[in-house]
Amino acid sequence: MKILVTAGPTREAIDAVRFLSNKSTGKMGYAVAKAAAEAGHDVILVSGPVALTQSDGLLEFVPVVSAADMAEAVKLRAPDCGMIVMCAAVADYTPAHPVDRKLKKTGGNLTLELKRTEDILKTLGQQKKPGQILVGFAAETDDVEAYARGKLAAKNLDWIAANDVSRPGCGFAADTNALTLYAADGRKFELPLQGKDEVARRMLEILLPSPR
Ligand code: C5P
Repeated sequence: MKILVTAGPTREAIDAVRFLSNKSTGKMGYAVAKAAAEAGHDVILVSGPVALTQSDGLLEFVPVVSAADMAEAVKLRAPDCGMIVMCAAVADYTPAHPVDRKLKKTGGNLTLELKRTEDILKTLGQQKKPGQILVGFAAETDDVEAYARGKLAAKNLDWIAANDVSRPGCGFAADTNALTLYAADGRKFELPLQGKDEVARRMLEILLPSPR
């Protein structure tokens, strides 16, 4: 199956030398891409700026910087893919008026106006092809199940992988993770705290149980 995975943060330019970003390291997305390639799938990895080495055996590696770049790269390739796993921590807001030179400081404060970015996963949910499997990630700190199930429905997803980032060893930058997978049909699977590579393998076995 052709599988598209997104990973890492995005960078939203403020000026020629500054940006807004987040703490995502890309480890979970790279682990999913690696596990899918090792299982024999054709994997496209669309990655924001990270300090990881690209996995071997990918069909395509697409480096991107901003949320807008990621949206363009994903929407171009999505129609062809049997499954899309959106692990990336895409910025929700981007500077409304990025400046193409370096902003000079003044004596006073600076107010940045931010505008919403496109919700890539929501767009994919609206354009979902028959049989296509759409998987989102939800990093939450409280009411994990309610928020995760809300996103699953709102974005027309088949699965959502929720992680409670307030738990030690989970989420951003950790080498381990614990996930709960919620399916649109109501099923729920708990993946206990373990290495991100193992979490990724177990997750794929649940998402794609039947022989290819
Ligand atoms: O609603 P929330 O941002 O928490 O949803 C997280 C999921 O949505 C993740 O799978 C993330 O990759 C995706 N997302 C997206 N485009 C955005 C923001 C989030 O595809 N602009």
